[in-house]
Amino acid sequence: MKTIGVLTSGGDAPGMNAAVRAVVRTAISLGMNVKGVRRGYVGLIEDDIFDMDARSVSDVINRGGTLLYTARCPKFRTEEGVLEAVATCKRHGIEGLVVIGGDGSFRGALELSRHGVPCIGVPGTIDNDIACTEYTIGFDTAMNTAMEMVDKIRDTAQSHDRCSVIEVMGRHAGYIAVQTGIAVGATAIMVPEVPVNIDSIIRKINKTKANGKKHFIVIVAEGVGGVDEIAKQIMAGTGVDSRATVLGHVQRGGNPTLRDRLRATQMGYEAVHLFYQGYGNRVVAYKGCEVVNYDIEDALQMKKSFDENMLKIALETAI
Ligand code: ADP
Ligand code: F6P
Repeated sequence: MKTIGVLTSGGDAPGMNAAVRAVVRTAISLGMNVKGVRRGYVGLIEDDIFDMDARSVSDVINRGGTLLYTARCPKFRTEEGVLEAVATCKRHGIEGLVVIGGDGSFRGALELSRHGVPCIGVPGTIDNDIACTEYTIGFDTAMNTAMEMVDKIRDTAQSHDRCSVIEVMGRHAGYIAVQTGIAVGATAIMVPEVPVNIDSIIRKINKTKANGKKHFIVIVAEGVGGVDEIAKQIMAGTGVDSRATVLGHVQRGGNPTLRDRLRATQMGYEAVHLFYQGYGNRVVAYKGCEVVNYDIEDALQMKKSFDENMLKIALETAI
């Protein structure tokens, strides 16, 4: 393979730049040319392609967001869109494409592979909701940001003897919620994977109130949602003044943590080496402290389990 392309797709995630850097520099080290594609599949359809060299990715390893920009592209879900993207690849001599994104982006990558443009997926999403991998780029930074924000909210909740009900991101998954919840010592954590009755949270707050606790943090995954209503119900059931906060997109920004830069670099490097060894249609993943890879179709069929023991740890340590 002489020329590869690289794009970022779906929601941005801190560490995507480090992954792009690793792809570009590894490819150049192996004697390949690299083309950058702007705005994910939109750039492939609209022919927004540019040549990249080692300097194109200077000073980005520490930056959040994505220098390639990103987008969601409804047209790429159609046969017409995929064919236009394939034509762009042919025009630019792109023989293989590294796709940095989530499950949806990998479905697009599978379509491209089926149409003769082999792709390698690199998992990039703050949600950590991709089944084939224990880790996705951006997860650690997002959780550290959420933790820092909750620490700030805690100061004011403590000063006013309040309960703070805080929504964190994660789309349909509760991985950000559960790990952040443990790290901030939340009284309760609500995730979509394990439904919990608001009455049990109210009972817990009343019980801990009786043993001297005066302020409370409740972490709610966005897949559960409804923080305003939850705060009202807690106030009605406990008498504790309650406030709701939605952390939102702040969790997607900021300089990537060491962990995200490291995993991004390892996975970007691996993606290019797979092409170099003649593989295509693979997803790079992180499993048992190792970088591994799977067939894209197999990867998309895997199911991710939720470690309920984490919730148990949270509950038993926040009494
Ligand atoms: P993520 O990659 O973070 O899961 P999305 O689900 O929004 O984000 O997917 C990103 C993009 O991938 C979509 O906007 C679309 O262009 C493409 N995509 C998603 N699903 C498919 C599909 N089934 N077939 C082709 N392309 C898809
Ligand atoms: O997938 C990342 C994510 O931030 C999810 O946690 C959230 O549900 C979604 O993207 C938000 O998307 P948008 O950027 O379109 O608001």
